[in-house]
Amino acid sequence: MPHTFVILGASGDLTHRKLVPALYHLFRKNRLPKETRIVGFSRTAFSHDAWREDLAKAVARYVGNDFDPGLWDRFSQHIYYHAGDIGQAADFTSLAKQLAQIENSQASTRVYYLATSPQFYEQAVEQLGRAGLADENGGQRRVIIEKPFGTDLATARELNASVHQVFRERQVYRIDHYLGKETVQNLLVLRFANTIFEPIWNRNYIDHVQITVAEEVDVGRRAGYYDNAGVLRDMFQNHLLQLVMITAMEAPVRYEADAVRNEKVKVLQAIRPMSAADVHRDTFRGQYHGYLDADGVRPGSRTATFSSIKLWIDNWRWQGVPFYLRSGKAMSCRTTQIVVQFNEPPHMLFPDGPRDAAYANRLVIQVQPAEGIQLQFETKVPDAGMRLRQTPLDFRYQREFRGVIPEAYERLLLDALEGDASLFARADEVEAAWSVCDPILQEWAKSDLPTLYPYEPGLWGPEESTQWMADQGRLWFDNCPVLH
Ligand code: BG6
Repeated sequence: MPHTFVILGASGDLTHRKLVPALYHLFRKNRLPKETRIVGFSRTAFSHDAWREDLAKAVARYVGNDFDPGLWDRFSQHIYYHAGDIGQAADFTSLAKQLAQIENSQASTRVYYLATSPQFYEQAVEQLGRAGLADENGGQRRVIIEKPFGTDLATARELNASVHQVFRERQVYRIDHYLGKETVQNLLVLRFANTIFEPIWNRNYIDHVQITVAEEVDVGRRAGYYDNAGVLRDMFQNHLLQLVMITAMEAPVRYEADAVRNEKVKVLQAIRPMSAADVHRDTFRGQYHGYLDADGVRPGSRTATFSSIKLWIDNWRWQGVPFYLRSGKAMSCRTTQIVVQFNEPPHMLFPDGPRDAAYANRLVIQVQPAEGIQLQFETKVPDAGMRLRQTPLDFRYQREFRGVIPEAYERLLLDALEGDASLFARADEVEAAWSVCDPILQEWAKSDLPTLYPYEPGLWGPEESTQWMADQGRLWFDNCPVLH
């Protein structure tokens, strides 16, 4: 059966930086289903060849040494373009004709990727429906929707309702590229394909969990978008909560889309809703110096570019174990890490001099860069009496496996073409994630608490964030990648 990957909003950055490079990599590895075609749809006028040339330049830039001009020529023969406007029904009718022609009017699997600006999602879906492009006609029709999926619970619900007018839930793939990262998937394997972690993965052994997504870059050219979104909508509602779900979920009965997503949703449902007082006490926000000067930022904007949040998961496994989530722009380095901090030994046999770190084991899952896992444990320093030191046991992808770790989009686009929605968010999951964030967003919008602290770029956020943690008897794991 032919497969067709249709990109709506094809002239944008995402197509050039992520989508087409990922499809090219899949083609190079011979992973794309046979007879896969790519069709771009956007307003810019391009001939098929002009678009192919435009993409060739972008792909060469983004895939570096993997760009092979001969291979590209073969790949680009499967690429087509259709100029059209999301607002014009006639342009979708002509798209439908072109698609039927490309597919020789056979039953096909078609994936529509909404790479447009989010304000056009509803209209794009409606037009697809009106032009009969969602009708399966003996084949398959799927739609991939990029983030942000709504800007709060109410808008996410509205968007879900509009999408469901045209597509059934099984056809809808809400993408969160964090789920396409190898280390995130490996966390499922670490937890559910090994026996040694499960018995200790709970309140009896774990003191707390820290999840940090630190970015060295500032908001750059995206300031206009970012100023409306802020760190909570941009990073927490999606990426950080996905990491929480994978870390905290129960084992699904099988690795299958609904079984996995049922367990993930239960985590979100168990997160304790925050009252205004909770928001003042358990959330922290900051803004880096220089943010207000970025082009597109409103004068005097109070948008947070850094935040840390303490969440409680009210279930048997996690009762009493805080989850600390933290993310920010303009921080000291780019690192995403999940730190599972185990309890200290109940009684310490070996007296030692003063030390900064607690005598507690720590499992560091380094999602990026330099993907890997580190287990930290106490060892005896040789020939030094009974002095102890925390020592690492490392697993590094680069050392264990040859080759380059694929980009998140590769895995996700292939899954969508093959109809596996396990690594995509379901309607109820997205809504539950907004239910966690909404009370915080609302309180931040109307109150001066918590204080919006300024911070210097290149640090771990505001200094007060360290104090906020210290007041709770804990320390941030402020380490640029522990694995290299
Ligand atoms: C995006 C956010 O979803 O994720 C960006 O909109 C952020 O602001 C990016 O920079 C981070 O992704 P990654 O894969 O580089 O960690």
